[in-house]
Amino acid sequence: MNLENIKKEYQQLVQEITNEKELYDLRVKFLGKKGILTEIMKGAKDLLPEERPTFGKLVNEIKEYISSNIEETKQILIEKAIAEKLASEEIDVTLPARKYSLGGMNPLNKVIEEIEELFITMGYSVAEGPEVETDKFNFEMLNLPKDHPARDMQDSFYITNELLMRTQTSPVQAREMLKAEGKGPIKIICPGKVFRRDNDDATHSHQFTQIEGLVVDKNITFADLKGTLEYLIKSLFGENKKIRLRPSFFPFTEPSVEVDISWENEDDEESIKWLEILGAGMVHPNVLEMAGFDPNEYSGFAFGMGPERIAMLKYGITDIRSFYTNDVRFLEQFNNTRND
Ligand code: DAH
Repeated sequence: MNLENIKKEYQQLVQEITNEKELYDLRVKFLGKKGILTEIMKGAKDLLPEERPTFGKLVNEIKEYISSNIEETKQILIEKAIAEKLASEEIDVTLPARKYSLGGMNPLNKVIEEIEELFITMGYSVAEGPEVETDKFNFEMLNLPKDHPARDMQDSFYITNELLMRTQTSPVQAREMLKAEGKGPIKIICPGKVFRRDNDDATHSHQFTQIEGLVVDKNITFADLKGTLEYLIKSLFGENKKIRLRPSFFPFTEPSVEVDISWENEDDEESIKWLEILGAGMVHPNVLEMAGFDPNEYSGFAFGMGPERIAMLKYGITDIRSFYTNDVRFLEQFNNTRND
C-alpha cells in the first residue's frame, strides 16, 4: 500500500470513530506491533539503500501525524461524552414538584396527650407498666382471686398459666402502690395498651388503650373523685357538659361507679342524653392492704377510661379500627384539630 493511501485510509476511518474503544482499536491497526505502519517499515529492506532514509522519514511523519491525531480525537471524544452526560442529567426546574401527602397526629395520641397534660397540671405523674403482665398483678392484687367470677368480664390472652397480655391498665395501680411502700401521696395516671379476646368490629378491638388513674392519700373522699372527673370531662368536651354517676361493680373499687357524660339537651333534665364514658370508684380496702397500705389510714380513688371512646366522641369517629390502620386520608383530617 502506498504511503499516501495509508494516510487517507486513516483519515477516513477516524471520521467514523464514536468512542474510545474504537479509537484504541484504530491505533492498534495503524501503529501497533503488527500494525500497518510496522509492516510497511519492514518493506524498507527491499529498497535501495539511498531510498531508505526518505522512506523512513515519510513513514515517521505519518506515524506522528496519526499519533497526534489520535490524541486530539481522544480529547474530542472525552469532551463529547461529558457534554452528553451533562445534557442527559439536566434538571428541568420548571417541572412541578412531587407531591407528598402530609398526615396528622393520630387523634388517639392527641387525646392521650391532652389527658396527660391535664393531669400533669394537677400534679399527677405518668406511670408505666408491662404489657405482658403476671396473673398476680393483672387480677389477684386487684382483688380478683383465681376463681373469681368477675374474671370472665375480661377475656384474656394467656401466654402461660401465670403470664398474660394485660387486660387493663389497673395492674399499674398495684405496682405503683408497692413502690410507694405504704406511704402516700400517690397521684398517677397510666396510659397504655391493653388486650382482650374480642372479635374486631366498628366498636371492638382485641387491642386498645386505657388510661388508668390512681390517687392514694389520707382523707381522700368520693367528692375528690367526682370533682376530678367533672374537671376532666369539662376540659375535654366543654363547660356545658355534665356528668352522672351510676352505681356499678368493679372488684378493685368499693363503691364503684360508671360515669356518664351528657351528650345532648344539656339544659333540659327531661330529655338530656347520657353516654357512658368511664369506670371509677374508691380503692377497695383489700387492694390497699395487699399493696402495703393501711386502709384505716389511707384511702384513694381510681378510674379507668378508654381514650378511643373519648376520641370517637370528640371527633365523631365511627369505626375504632381507623385508629390503628394509619390511613393518611383519615389522619390528615387531624392536622390542626388539637384544641378545637
Ligand atoms: N379496669 C377497668 C376495665 O378495664 C376500668 C376501671 C374501672 C379502672 C374502675 C379503674 C376503676 O381504676 O376504678 O374495665
